Amino acid sequence: MQDQFQRNIDYLRISVTDRCNLRCKYCMPSEGVAWMPHEAILTFEEILRLMRLSTQLGFRRFRITGGEPLVRKEILSFLEESAKLPGVEDLMITTNGLLLPEMAFDLKAAGVQRVNISLDTMNPERFHEITRGGDVSTVIKGVFRSLEVGLNPVKINVVVVRGFNTDELPSFLSLAKQYPLHVRFIELMPIGISSEHRDEFVPIQEMKELLGLKEYVPTQDILGGGPAEYVQPSGYKGSIGFISAMSRHFCNTCNRVRLTSDGKLRPCLHSKHEVNLRDALRNGSSDEAIKDLFSQAVWHKPAEHHMNEEALQGLRVMSQIGG
Ligand code: GTP
Ligand code: 5AD
Ligand code: SF4
Repeated sequence: MQDQFQRNIDYLRISVTDRCNLRCKYCMPSEGVAWMPHEAILTFEEILRLMRLSTQLGFRRFRITGGEPLVRKEILSFLEESAKLPGVEDLMITTNGLLLPEMAFDLKAAGVQRVNISLDTMNPERFHEITRGGDVSTVIKGVFRSLEVGLNPVKINVVVVRGFNTDELPSFLSLAKQYPLHVRFIELMPIGISSEHRDEFVPIQEMKELLGLKEYVPTQDILGGGPAEYVQPSGYKGSIGFISAMSRHFCNTCNRVRLTSDGKLRPCLHSKHEVNLRDALRNGSSDEAIKDLFSQAVWHKPAEHHMNEEALQGLRVMSQIGG
């Protein structure tokens, strides 16, 4: 469906849990966050109902996020049901990859087309530090297992943090050269805890200089519904993508809204405005009434974010939004 700025909104990001098996420094505060109580979280039946209604409004692409989506119980049967819904053309997951070694095969069998995996560093000590305890070799195993089972494309999300992983950009380049992996370098957004780290922000232009990329051609051939711009240097099996959320935002082509795990529809990543679909689901509202709420939220999507002027703080940290 269209919003008031004539953007076609057909991409729903669904956070199925606020829980995570990592504690990334830019995503969660050091003391952690209190998990939402079980009854606050939408059941899979409730999410499936919203997905079905959203396809009737023209939604076609569905990205399952978290926290970490793969830690939620019964996720595989939920994905299987989602993939069968008429109108669901693209079903995908954003994951930290820790559970992919054992789950990639079943995800593919359940009908998931593709995965985006967060991997900010390939250095074991640094990974342990930024995720507060994670084991990078498991994630790397998960990346290759995803390729093996035919999830396609497999994308790697690298949030670039000054003084932390800026020296590793060339190693990520080699990864995309040797393997059919699509490595996306992402500008750090000032959301929640990362608003305190503005000095660690690296603009895309500087990343390109650090990479020393000279001859390359832009490519549109990488399947995706998101804002990344891809280039494919000659001889590369994969590609390199850039997500310039801050220095050159892409709000004029935004195509998405977000559903939080507690059933709030967020028209924009950087807006505190939320529409309570959970109450509607639980007070016996009709399909038509819920679709009305949904389409009103979409219609009122803001024109653009204002993260350059104002960080997003309060209410939710990134792990409770799902990226
Ligand atoms: P595909 O292109 O379909 O593969 O997905 P994607 O890139 O939209 O999804 P992913 O979950 O991998 O997100 C990659 C990065 O883009 C993350 O850092 C997100 O926070 C960021 N991102 C995703 N959607 C938005 C958005 O609407 N606005 C902004 N500013 N950033 C976004
Ligand atoms: N800025 C940019 N990207 C972020 N992510 C999490 N927090 C931020 C932030 N502040 C990324 C994660 C994951 C995706 C869902 O969002 O690394 O890959
Ligand atoms: Fe978990 Fe992803 Fe947040 Fe890291 S970035 S704490 S993996 S939700």
